[in-house]
Amino acid sequence: MKVTVVGAGAVGATCADNIARKELCTELVLLDIKEGLAEGKAQDMMQTAALLGFDTRITGSTNDYSKTAGSKVVVITSGIPRKPGMTREDLIGTNAGIVKTVAENILKYSPDAIIIVISNPMDTMTYLALTATGLPKNRIIGMGGTLDSSRFKYQLSSHLGCSPADLNAIVVGGHGDTTMIPLIRLATWNSIPVTNFLNAEKQQAVINDTMVGGATLTKLIGTSAWYAPGAAGAALVESIVRDEKKLFTCCVALDGEYGQKDICLGVPVIIGKDGWEKIIDCGLNEEEQALFAKSAAAVRSMNDVLKTL
Ligand code: 2OP
Repeated sequence: MKVTVVGAGAVGATCADNIARKELCTELVLLDIKEGLAEGKAQDMMQTAALLGFDTRITGSTNDYSKTAGSKVVVITSGIPRKPGMTREDLIGTNAGIVKTVAENILKYSPDAIIIVISNPMDTMTYLALTATGLPKNRIIGMGGTLDSSRFKYQLSSHLGCSPADLNAIVVGGHGDTTMIPLIRLATWNSIPVTNFLNAEKQQAVINDTMVGGATLTKLIGTSAWYAPGAAGAALVESIVRDEKKLFTCCVALDGEYGQKDICLGVPVIIGKDGWEKIIDCGLNEEEQALFAKSAAAVRSMNDVLKTL
């Protein structure tokens, strides 16, 4: 089985590294527009194979999409990352053209591919990939909520002093500093509501820190993060290629679910061999549903910008 990661920057390379270490495919192609970058990173990763003991064959390509032919899954990480002070939405002008071209090129050689979108602004780039390719909606998956839910668990674990792996917690809505909705009411520590352990002030701190999780890292590092975004992309690839049917929050096309239509937004879905296979209703209360509608309105106005480009 072949998997392609487009974009050999920090996120793409980290995603590829995770895919190879877990041996999620036999062939892994890393592609980038910058001459030699993907080839170099692919070789560097292959030089860890003997040390780490994986058998995935990684090759790099400078913009030659024929090398990606027959991929089962393609992860798109292309585009510019944000700099400190920028929002993900500031990237739309540059990244929209890149993501559209990449998606079209991918489909020429892998017409059956499932596409995972990581590029920002992620909700709008997912919507763009869907509308530009005309692919069945189940084959276009935006990664945002998977990453944000992992960051949410990290914040909760810091406050609770527990293992992030013992937590169940999801973030729905958009993948933006003001559009994501960490659902603390539904979060549990091995089935026990976390709200039993955190007072209102602490709950709010967890929510706030989760929402600016990406921006905090951008400020610290000077560019946007890559370890967690790359790992989140690889976790989705894993659930697809192993048909795990795991539940992740992903940005997918809504057709009336959660009260929204003609938009891609983060909701809990089952990820398996056919892409996102089912949307799960997590039972938002009135207040959460209102936040979801607000998030949808913000993402919709960003989608409208696509028409002006
Ligand atoms: C982040 O939040 C890359 O958008 C991604 O770090």
